[in-house]
Amino acid sequence: MRFDVFTLIPESLEPYLNSSILKRAAERNLVEFHLHNIRDWAIDKHHVTDDIPYGGGGGMVMKPDPMFNAVEEVTGTPPTCPVVLLTPQGRLFSQAVAHELAAYPRIALIAGRYEGLDERVRQHLVTDEISIGDYVLTGGELPALVLIDAITRLLPDVLGDPDAPQKDSHAEGLLEHPHYTRPAEFRGWDVPDVLRSGDHARVNRWRREQSLLRTLQRRPDMLESATLTDEDRKFLKDQLDVEG
Ligand code: ADE
Repeated sequence: MRFDVFTLIPESLEPYLNSSILKRAAERNLVEFHLHNIRDWAIDKHHVTDDIPYGGGGGMVMKPDPMFNAVEEVTGTPPTCPVVLLTPQGRLFSQAVAHELAAYPRIALIAGRYEGLDERVRQHLVTDEISIGDYVLTGGELPALVLIDAITRLLPDVLGDPDAPQKDSHAEGLLEHPHYTRPAEFRGWDVPDVLRSGDHARVNRWRREQSLLRTLQRRPDMLESATLTDEDRKFLKDQLDVEG
């Protein structure tokens, strides 16, 4: 899979892309990251990428021409891949959207800066708009990294444990169960006996119940769309009865 990121500050993404799992994935040719500085497509002498808004008011607006020229030169005219704009006005990013985007061989990401982007970029270049949450950042660079990270870890062979994405919080519509490693006792706090019992059926049932319990306590909204067995439903009903 190939990501093309269009930004005014490509250097802000480099350290994260050059670290740990993403770096290794790129070295193993499982993914390609291409960073493009929009300023390189601003043709005037001073490489200006923003201008004052029509109609007045404060703030600057990113000009359409450098953005169109950059994205079209790199991804085709018209682009042959999805062109995703990171914006707080977009649809909300989620594990389901990460899976959806992981199916494409290539994605272009536009990380906007300044107060805004000329509306013609949204209307005639962008094919999808995504927000990473209901808060406003200074630009789309961190959101672009969030998408890249969440999508890359879903690609085949990127993670050491091939089943990891299926076990994640959110993967099955539930939060993940707690994890423990050695030592069995730390500062007087013990690892639950069931995890040391060697009884895999009991361990699996405990993990499932912890997952259900956490979701019930922290994100009850997720239970409405989760895939639940009759046993799961009975467990949840008993919990609610106990809580009164
Ligand atoms: N740009 C600024 N804030 C953002 C957000 N919450 N999501 C995506 N892009 C953004």
